[in-house]
Amino acid sequence: MNYLIAPSILAADFSNLERDISMVNESEADWFHLDVMDGVFVPNISFGVPVIKAINEKASKPLDVHLMIVNPGKYIEAFHSVGADILTIHYEASTHLHRDVQSIKNLDMQAGVALNPHTPINVLEDIIKDIDLVCLMSVNPGFGGQKFIENTYKKIAQLKELIHESGSRAKIEIDGGVGVQNASKLIETGADVLVAGSSVFGASDPLATISQLKHLA
Ligand code: DX5
Ligand code: ZN
Repeated sequence: MNYLIAPSILAADFSNLERDISMVNESEADWFHLDVMDGVFVPNISFGVPVIKAINEKASKPLDVHLMIVNPGKYIEAFHSVGADILTIHYEASTHLHRDVQSIKNLDMQAGVALNPHTPINVLEDIIKDIDLVCLMSVNPGFGGQKFIENTYKKIAQLKELIHESGSRAKIEIDGGVGVQNASKLIETGADVLVAGSSVFGASDPLATISQLKHLA
């Protein structure tokens, strides 16, 4: 099975960020998942451009930046300038999604679109061929450590079909409540990227947990 693991820095120890970044660098993880929250689109504020700039100086793997902000189009250049490799914006937050996706791609970043748990897959019909990644939220965005929403499996299957029918090459990323208990089923259903926050950084041995996630039975 060929899939990617993206530890979410939201669950890292912010007073020991360099240590946690080094841990991910040395691990079998593939990407850094970085959650940007504005307190408007989601009811929480996390970190933004200067923190990502600092992370980029230490990180040796691609930065997968997940914007949970209103008006994401305004900030595409800013996140590009601090090293975002994959930039994901929310369907629900972008009025001109096609324009924003093109702006991301014009800067040579991979373009992702995230869907909230209640947003149906079919809204992606006319954009799926233009994007590199779909982030299916398997919790309501805003916080780490929440319970995985089981309806996500159905959405993965629907999305996989849409990707197949349209000839899109988009990856399916699952974000929220992912851990060793559900990772195998998610991959079997069709996930390509697993984001894991609290299940990695809350583990007694984060390196071993990443390895377990990377080598599912
Ligand atoms: C939630 C964020 C997630 C979060 C996942 O809004 O988008 O990336 O960090 O955290 P866990 O893995 O703890 O559910
Ligand atoms: Zn996220």
